[in-house]
Amino acid sequence: MIISIIVATGKNNEIGQNGGLLCHLPDDLKRFKEITTGKPIVMGRRTFDSLPKGALPNRRNIVISRNPYLKIENAEVYSSLDYALLKLKDEEEVFIIGGAQIYKQILSDADKLYLTKIHANFPAADAFFPPVDYRIWHEVNRETYPADERHLFGFTFLELER
Ligand SMILES: NC(=O)c1ccc[n+]([C@@H]2O[C@H](COP(=O)([O-])OP(=O)(O)OC[C@H]3O[C@@H](n4cnc5c(N)ncnc54)[C@H](OP(=O)(O)O)[C@@H]3O)[C@@H](O)[C@H]2O)c1
Repeated sequence: MIISIIVATGKNNEIGQNGGLLCHLPDDLKRFKEITTGKPIVMGRRTFDSLPKGALPNRRNIVISRNPYLKIENAEVYSSLDYALLKLKDEEEVFIIGGAQIYKQILSDADKLYLTKIHANFPAADAFFPPVDYRIWHEVNRETYPADERHLFGFTFLELER
C-alpha cells in the first residue's frame, strides 16, 4: 500500500486558520479531486468537520477520532491512524488529506507527497504542516502557475517521493 499525503501550504508551512483553509484556489481543489477520486481518503475529525457538504463523493472517506460514539454518514470512523491503515491494507494507494495533527503523525511513514506551495504568507494561520526534510524527499514533478482572475495567489504543484 502506498501512503500518499496531499496538502496545500503557504510559504511558512501554514495549512489552515479558524478551522478552515487558507484561501480559495479553484485549480488546487480541481487537482485534489482528480488525484483522490476513486482512492480512499483519511482525515482527522476536525478536517471532516470543515467539509461543507460532508463526506466527499466517489471516495472511501475515513475519519480518525477518539470519540467511540462518533458515527458519520458515508464515512468510516476509526479510533487511530494505525487501525485505519490496517483496515486499508488491501488498497493500492491511500491519501492522507489532513489536518495538522494527522499530517504530523504520518509524515515519517508516507511514501509520496502531493504538495501545493501557495506563493504567499498567512500570518493568521493556526495550523501547520510539519517540516519537510529535503534530504529524504526528492522532487519528481513541478508545475507553477501565476495568480490570475480566479486565483489571488500563484502556486506550485509539487510531487515528492522518498
Ligand atoms: N491546506 C490543506 O491542505 C489542509 C488539509 C486538511 C486540513 N487543513 C486544515 O487543517 C486544520 C485542521 O487540522 P487540525 O490539526 O486542527 O485537526 P485534524 O488533524 O483534522 O483533526 C484532529 C482530530 O483528529 C482526531 N485525532 C487526531 N489524532 C488522533 C489519534 N492519534 N487517534 C485518534 N484520533 C485522533 C481527534 O478527533 P476527536 O477530537 O474527534 O477525538 C482530533 O481532534 C483546519 O484549519 C483545516 O482547514 C488544511
